[in-house]
Amino acid sequence: MCGIVGYIGKKKAVPILMDGLRKESYRGYDSSGIVVFEQGKPICLKAVGKLENLENRIQTNKYGSGFGIGHVRWATHGGVTEANAHPHCDCKENIFLVHNGIIENYRQLREKLVREGHKFSSDTDTEVIAHLIEKYFQGKLEEAVRKALRQVKGAYALAVIARDDPEKIIAARFSSPLIIGVGQNEYLVASDPNAIAPYAQKVIALEDNEIAIITPKDISILKEREPQDLEIEAEESEKGGYPHFMLKEIMEQPESIGSPLKGRLIIAQGLAKLGGLETVKEKLKNVKRLNIIACGTARHAGLVGEYMLEEYAGIPTEVEAGSEFRYRKQILDKNTAILAVSQSGETADTLGAIKEAKQKGMMCIGIVNAVGSTISRETDAGVYNHAGPEIGVASTKAFTSQLTVLALLTLLLGRQRGMSLVMGQRIAKEISRIPELVKKTLESEAQIKELAEKYKDFNNFAYIGRKYNLPIALEGALKLKEISYLHAEGMPAGEMKHGQIALIDENFPTVAICPSDSVYEKMVSNVEEIKARKGPVIAIATQGNEDIKKLVDDVIYIPKTLEMLTPILSVIPLQLFAYYVGLLRGCDIDKPRNLAKSVTVE
Ligand code: F6R
Repeated sequence: MCGIVGYIGKKKAVPILMDGLRKESYRGYDSSGIVVFEQGKPICLKAVGKLENLENRIQTNKYGSGFGIGHVRWATHGGVTEANAHPHCDCKENIFLVHNGIIENYRQLREKLVREGHKFSSDTDTEVIAHLIEKYFQGKLEEAVRKALRQVKGAYALAVIARDDPEKIIAARFSSPLIIGVGQNEYLVASDPNAIAPYAQKVIALEDNEIAIITPKDISILKEREPQDLEIEAEESEKGGYPHFMLKEIMEQPESIGSPLKGRLIIAQGLAKLGGLETVKEKLKNVKRLNIIACGTARHAGLVGEYMLEEYAGIPTEVEAGSEFRYRKQILDKNTAILAVSQSGETADTLGAIKEAKQKGMMCIGIVNAVGSTISRETDAGVYNHAGPEIGVASTKAFTSQLTVLALLTLLLGRQRGMSLVMGQRIAKEISRIPELVKKTLESEAQIKELAEKYKDFNNFAYIGRKYNLPIALEGALKLKEISYLHAEGMPAGEMKHGQIALIDENFPTVAICPSDSVYEKMVSNVEEIKARKGPVIAIATQGNEDIKKLVDDVIYIPKTLEMLTPILSVIPLQLFAYYVGLLRGCDIDKPRNLAKSVTVE
């Protein structure tokens, strides 16, 4: 994983930077680089592969500069190339910086900067920060960094230097660790304390939104408290040509799932790499039981996670609504860990449950989309979805991203607990194909629009599924209720005959999620029972299954994938169906009545 080091003082910076990078390299990296200024000229050296490759390019003692920054990179945005390695710089080779974290709105920022004439030389999210700082630079580096960071959405730890404002390092953080080491007439910056231990006697841990101005003589810290620029909100709020955020967010799922996968899968080794869990990785090996805490759609993701984690990682898992967990007697022990799943990271019920669990001394980890949110701060460690901001009130892309992260977590925990290499490779490879399969699934949009027209006047719907797709039945029904205000009930397909089937007649349609998986035959039997009572049925089935057409009224096909990953595909037609039914019924799609995007009350 990435590492930052910076030095300013009386000694030669280069050997100290290289020493720091060596100490940070244990976390895994694929390229490295440093930059110093020699007589006002930047010396920026980078190399792919081992740190020795960088060392071979540097005659360590040749450079006399007393300040500089360095980085080891683990690729996320953009391949493993020298151009993508840090440090990155602006067009004028004035501003250089190193960065840990992910800039979520980098695409929008990059497009805007390109329109303004900036030339980019890498595929990284990081480079936008250098150009943004360039845009605001008027001689005082800290001022320009402050203005640039107001435009940025995501997680960052940064160290920045400028040729035209020398003898100064600007360090800043949000949701990614960064410390400043205080030595004898010298200061250091690092993302990992090990990197600076030999030189620093004391450390200052930067807090979120703090910007440090470090010179050879002293250090001062600015707290950036001002709210984000409205300009940014407006940009992010753009619907990108779609009539509603909900549709935009449904259609951008190949990307919201695909981008965060970069750097998180090592297919050849059948492994998932989740940087946010590094600090608790060893502790996770001793976890005997997991309690997933979440609400609404996020709880449905948790229910899919329960099936994944029990089947492939062998961890007994229980899923509970935050509002229930808090007020009942829980039988927990120190080997139980809490996994909170939340898009906003602010949901009061989930947060309350975390606080309760922490009081009992439990380890709490999170899967959170909103960077820097309260849940991301309250948990001991966690994984960001990095699905980008979700504006539509009904959760869509955050849900599929939660399912993907749960699959990654299952892979990580499974491989810690005896999952074979072959199985690990199979799962990792299939996860990497998901963005492409989601894209194919979205091709049914026009057909689903027609189905919405056909079914929009029914007043009641049943959604049924089994095993991995039972939570998708619950989620499909929830989406329809939220967006179209129609009555819909999700239930286990096998439960139908125990009571609900009394409702079925020609006016009560059922959506049956029946991909070709281990429970397909059982699903077919349940669909037969509904058809025998004249209930209309829409089936979600696997491409190539022609038989199902003979049984049901309508079929929407999804591509074939591993059973544990089918929910990521099967939910998509249900999101689109809810959207188009709601639209045809004249509902307020992005702001459904009575609902709020972030539920901060109990
Ligand atoms: C439904 C929906 C809600 C949220 C729930 C939890 O479309 O969005 O059910 O899933 O309020 O919110 P987060 O994930 O922000 O904790």
